[in-house]
Amino acid sequence: ITDNDINADGHLQIDGCDAVELAHQFGTPLMVYNVSAIRDQFHQFNKIFEQNDIDYEISYASKAFANTAMYQLVNQEGGHIDVVSGGEIAVALHAGFPAAKMSFHGNNKSLEELRLAIQNHVGVIMVDNFHEIQLINQVVEELDETTNVIMRITPGITAHTHEFIQTGQVDSKFGFDLASGQVEKGFELLHKNPRVHVLGFHAHIGSQISSPDGFNALAVKMMQLANKFNTEYDFTTEVLDLGGGFGIQYVSTDGYLAPEKFVESIINTIKEQASQYNLQIPAIWIEPGRSIVGSAGLTLYTVGSQKRVDGIKPYVAVDGGMGDNIRPMLYDAEYEVVSANNPRAQPVEEVRLVGKYCESGDVLIKNASVPSLTAGDVVAVLDTGAYGYSMASNYNLNLKPAIVFVEKGKAQLVTKRQSFENLYELDNNLELGD
Ligand code: LLP
Repeated sequence: ITDNDINADGHLQIDGCDAVELAHQFGTPLMVYNVSAIRDQFHQFNKIFEQNDIDYEISYASKAFANTAMYQLVNQEGGHIDVVSGGEIAVALHAGFPAAKMSFHGNNKSLEELRLAIQNHVGVIMVDNFHEIQLINQVVEELDETTNVIMRITPGITAHTHEFIQTGQVDSKFGFDLASGQVEKGFELLHKNPRVHVLGFHAHIGSQISSPDGFNALAVKMMQLANKFNTEYDFTTEVLDLGGGFGIQYVSTDGYLAPEKFVESIINTIKEQASQYNLQIPAIWIEPGRSIVGSAGLTLYTVGSQKRVDGIKPYVAVDGGMGDNIRPMLYDAEYEVVSANNPRAQPVEEVRLVGKYCESGDVLIKNASVPSLTAGDVVAVLDTGAYGYSMASNYNLNLKPAIVFVEKGKAQLVTKRQSFENLYELDNNLELGD
């Protein structure tokens, strides 16, 4: 929190909007996104590629956070998107997002999902495995269509991050294994189908990574692969997609490297390798999710009950919790909280910031340094923009929060809070029994 984040009333402000007013106007829990910050991150990524004169795409990993307005914002910024389900394709199409700018990922895409993608001319399918090759061959034939593909490789690189979000190690469910010849075998099967155009290769080593080392190692491996396919198959790799995973700073003890710095490092490695092998520099695609929306989003909650017992760290409860942010429970993720009413107030104690869900594990922050808080105060949990709402649930039949986008003092409700009706609208009354 800097002085820029505090307005004349001493309240937290987000891109010119008063956080306490937002909470009163739209209710809590409320997800608030700073649209300027999202645009700025796109600009930083674009700039680094343009300065280096590299052909590129920023393919926003929409699993990090997606709704209609977000897809429209990415489109305004000229980005591509990474989609991982029929659902993400459907919402993106509904938002008017061009299918040609979508990359379709997944380790177990269904026949129906592949039909949806190929029928709508999704830009590229990221082929993951041999079963999928068969399905793609079947669908292009059946629909009399063609498609672009990129092969997902398991590069055998272990990124230093939580094991649940490592994906590049040899023992992974994703992609064609590099060491055992699966890549060559898969390539031959795809390449011989004239309806399928192979653009290049993809790998994603993990998420919330704080050092560029793994990305450099990946860039070296991918250029080795491009060279091998050039010499052995006379194949020109048009695209190398190095995935996402650039980490953000959640708490002050997290290391921080600006997301575009990871990219700069990747670009340098690829340039070196290209000159070493005397290869053309391929287009470089990246798939940032968290680094685009993570720090641009925060969650506003209203403080309710507190439990205080001598010798026990106090519990301060807010009106949301594990249903709108499962990350602390799933990955031991850490967050910071500030009072939106008075972000400058000095902390007076360490508490556990807990939610309202019927589970002891529903702890948003285990060690929250907070000023004196009372019922009705609005607090902001910072940096919740990635994998918060997108992994939200209706556990305990609590409602998913509303989402507001703010930009330069204007606020827009982009996703309504769920209603009770939403909780039973898909249900049928029981007809069994008497
Ligand atoms: N590309 C691929 C193929 C991916 O699997 C992912 C994330 C990304 C890009 C984007 O990664 P990012 O830039 O957001 O790190 N739910 C977890 C994160 C799961 C990441 C899954 N894949 C969390 O909350 O930390």
